[in-house]
Amino acid sequence: LDNGLALKPTMGWLHWERFTCNTDCDTDPTNCISERLYMQMADVMVKEGWKEAGYEYVCIDDCWPSHSRDAQGRLQADPNRFPGGIKKLADYIHSKGLKLGIYADVGKNTCAGYPGSLGYYETDAQTFADWDVDLLKFDGCFLDRSLIAEGYMSMSKALNKTGKSILYSCEWPLYEWPIKQPNYTAIREYCNHWRNFQDVFDSWSSIKSILEWTASHQKIIVPAAGPGGWNDPDMLVIGNFGLSHDQQQSQMALWAIMAAPLLMSNDLRDICPRSKELLQNRMIIAINQDPLGRQGLRTVMDCDVWERPLFGNRLAIAIMYKQELGGPRRFPISAVPGWKICAPQCNVTQILPQYKELGVQSHQKELVLSVNPTGTTLLTVTPLSGDLRKQHW
Ligand code: DGJ
Repeated sequence: LDNGLALKPTMGWLHWERFTCNTDCDTDPTNCISERLYMQMADVMVKEGWKEAGYEYVCIDDCWPSHSRDAQGRLQADPNRFPGGIKKLADYIHSKGLKLGIYADVGKNTCAGYPGSLGYYETDAQTFADWDVDLLKFDGCFLDRSLIAEGYMSMSKALNKTGKSILYSCEWPLYEWPIKQPNYTAIREYCNHWRNFQDVFDSWSSIKSILEWTASHQKIIVPAAGPGGWNDPDMLVIGNFGLSHDQQQSQMALWAIMAAPLLMSNDLRDICPRSKELLQNRMIIAINQDPLGRQGLRTVMDCDVWERPLFGNRLAIAIMYKQELGGPRRFPISAVPGWKICAPQCNVTQILPQYKELGVQSHQKELVLSVNPTGTTLLTVTPLSGDLRKQHW
């Protein structure tokens, strides 16, 4: 969507996977969906280096509104859980130098049964603009599948009509796939990012299924990605309960290769140092945010080699090892198709599993890498050709 936003994949925090629809503020005030949760997350994002690393949007998901609209037909936040209202919350988030995201649904109800926007697209877009909200995640429950495309386009137009720049995060293809192959040219024209596949869960099987879906549809979806519009494989679940450290590294590496929005869903108030370091890893974030803005692809099917072209003729390579038996696997880099850009020589940096300058490697010499089971070795390679050097001088 050409609204000047999401020129690089969006970075931030989104409540859904970790906090779901917990509305019980009486017995669980720390974790319920309330203004406190987003204010505390924003505080931590500033204090603990998240903002500095690039994480900018603090996003609300389902279960924030009251069950009824107000007398003017406007959505309103649940008064007990959001006593200050969304405008005040947006002001607070903005005072921290961050941005606020909100959630609504294209159909009659949200997936959790709160009021949907069907019949109210312009009213709701205007309400979000009046509240000074910066991003809208628009879900697709409770609408006839044949009306999905039209609904998402109408909301995009309604947002545009408010005159305020609001990043528009869609789930259009996810809800349209069951009836037909979505039109990605149209989706890119109307949305800043779009979910294609099922919700992420805090498990390795969920991460694997998302990667498998993405790779098996890459011919259709990868060409649609670029500055202003991105495929969204859903939230980062790093820092929660279900992934081993190697698996967390795999999610971070592959989300960087896929040029995915980096929306964490975890508890930043209580996160282990290793997960924090991984999520704030500047080299991985730089791959995700690379100015060329091209999404990577799986280039070797059976052993999961993924490659992403980077600005300046460089390449990021992720080698994931899926087998859940035995120890690390030795992997010769000559099996990576993109390695041929390293003729005659490349400078190689290993970023994961740990940072290591591997120095100048020649095309002929066999570089053998080690990849942990369910882990990923992530590299960048920079060709060192006479021509390139001349250009720099
Ligand atoms: C379905 C979406 O795909 C999820 O990301 C989340 O927003 C839930 N709905 C909320 O009900």
